[in-house]
This record gives sequence, C-alpha cells and structure tokens, in this order.
Amino acid sequence: MQFPDYRPRRLRRTENMRRLIRETTLTLDDLVYPMFVVPGRKIKKEISSMVGNYHYSVDMLTDECKRIRDMGIPAVILFGIPERKDEVASEAYSEKGIVQRALRALKQEVPGLALITDVCLCEYTSHGHCGIVKDGEVLNDESLETIAATAVSHARAGADMVAPSDMMDGRVGAIREALDEDDFEHIPIMSYAAKYASAFYGPFREAAESAPQFGDRRGYQMDPANSDEAIREVTLDVQEGADIIMVKPALPYLDIVRRVREEFDLPVAAYNVSGEFAMIKAAAQKGWIDGERAMMECLISIKRAGADIILTYFAPEVAKLLGCRR
Ligand code: PBG
Repeated sequence: MQFPDYRPRRLRRTENMRRLIRETTLTLDDLVYPMFVVPGRKIKKEISSMVGNYHYSVDMLTDECKRIRDMGIPAVILFGIPERKDEVASEAYSEKGIVQRALRALKQEVPGLALITDVCLCEYTSHGHCGIVKDGEVLNDESLETIAATAVSHARAGADMVAPSDMMDGRVGAIREALDEDDFEHIPIMSYAAKYASAFYGPFREAAESAPQFGDRRGYQMDPANSDEAIREVTLDVQEGADIIMVKPALPYLDIVRRVREEFDLPVAAYNVSGEFAMIKAAAQKGWIDGERAMMECLISIKRAGADIILTYFAPEVAKLLGCRR
C-alpha cells in the first residue's frame, strides 16, 4: 500500500462513504445512565457541577426513569444520598434505605428498565470513606460484611445487577457468596475492577456528598501510574465471580480499557466519570469547544478502545442526538 496507488482520502469524500467504512458505532444499547436519589418529595435539584444532572426524590426519579426508558436507554445506575450518615454506614444496607426505596418504586412503576446499583459505603459513612474506619485506617476484611449486606439488600429491593465500587480486596467474592446464600445466584456483579484514585471524581463527590473527611482514597483506589496492576486487580475480580469488569475513569485510562479488552474474555465497561463530563460542559459553556461533537468524540473513543458498556452522564443527550427510538 503506497502512495499514489493507495489514497486513503478516496474513502473519506462523502458522509455515506465514511459511513460504509466506519469501524466503530455508538448506540443507546451501550449506555448506562448514573442517577442520584435523595430523601424527600417533589425534589429535582440540579447538581451545580454537573449541568443537566439532578438530585431526585423517589417520586421524581420514577418520572424521570420512565423518560429514560422511553428514550431507549437500557439501564440506570443508582447512587443514594441517605437521610443520616454514621460511622458504620447503617443506611447503606437498611431495608428502608434511600436506594432500597427507590428500587422498590422503580421496579413497580418503571418495568423494562434495568436497575443497577452502586455498592459502596462512602455516601453512607460520616467519615466519607468507602469502608469501615478504625483509628484512621480503612479496614478491609471488616468492611466486606457491610458491603455484602448492602448488595444483598439491593437485590432484595429489586436491583437487576450490583456494582461494587469500594475497592476493598475480596469484595466481589464476598458479595457473590452472600447473594448466592440469599438465592440471588441469578443477579450479576459488575465490578469496578480497575478503579483509580482520580481527581476526575470531584463533581461526583459534591453530588454524592461523599468526599472523605480525612485523608484520601489512595490507600484503596489504584495509583494512576499503574497498568500491570490493573490486570492483577481485574484477574482477582474475575476469579471471585465478576460478570462484567469495569475500568474507571475512562478517558485518561483508554490504554487500560484496551488491555483489559484484550486480556479478558468478559464484557468490559468504562465509566466516563463526572469530571470528564464537567470538563466538556464547562468548555462548551464558554464557547471554547463544540460540546456535542466533543461528547460524541469522547464516547466513540471509549468504545473504540474496547468498552462494551459506557456509564455516562451524557446518556440522555446521546439519546436525543441519535433520535428517540420509541
Ligand atoms: C463511590 C463512587 C465514586 C464514583 C462512583 N462510585 C466516587 C469515589 O470513588 O470517590 C465516581 C463517579 C464519578 O465521578 O462520576 N466510591
């Protein structure tokens, strides 16, 4: 293949020609929409750092989820902001917890939408860490029981899939075992398998009120400099029974998405996190970039890197752009 015999521009001349040779396509089938649920009624309050994303009370969440389903988005992932936080994350696994209540309502009122739950303690602990804390240390094995109990309570309330994001060692195995014991062997686990200690979670922590009150998460989330370690992390989760493996964040870690895609034979998810979303929104608001094109370019690049599933705050906008199917 040599110039002038081979001229790549020949196949780029028209949009239809480009369509014919396009290697990657983004569809609504690929998307999961993250949503935040809060106590109360009639609440729909915009999250200032995440334009177009809201805190919803259960009643308003239900209405919004109908819209999401009718746009053709297959799934949402739920995050809860509890009434009360405490040292041991009691509301994370309570039958009357905020996510559990949301699940029951959605199960009833929005059939046909897959309900995924984020399983973590950071929104429910007074100290904001993802596990149980003692003497300033985030304890590993002591956290597993609470995390597994949280996952089981989600399944009981109607979750179709649970997604542990805490990064404690052994949590996928602990959750799998607890689910199976409770006859939820049919409920899959999407593990945040390679989750990095990232600055790009900033807006989310405002949204979820989950910023750690002391220290940071580098004692359990991964060092951004590491790639081989991601493979070891994913291997553990696969051995422990993960059904879908996630890389998070997405854009600064596309090399990891690609490696995980090539080294494992399981569906791969990537989380296009709050900071990645907010950067595009902020630049677009200033008129510095075309927000819609930047959004589509980023999402297609995540897909091209090897993700089968993309968790993204852009999901409803993509749905609008690709045209409602129903
Ligand atoms: C909970 C959790 C976080 C995110 C998803 N689950 C925050 C964190 O680890 O601090 C981040 C999502 C986002 O930034 O969009 N542990």
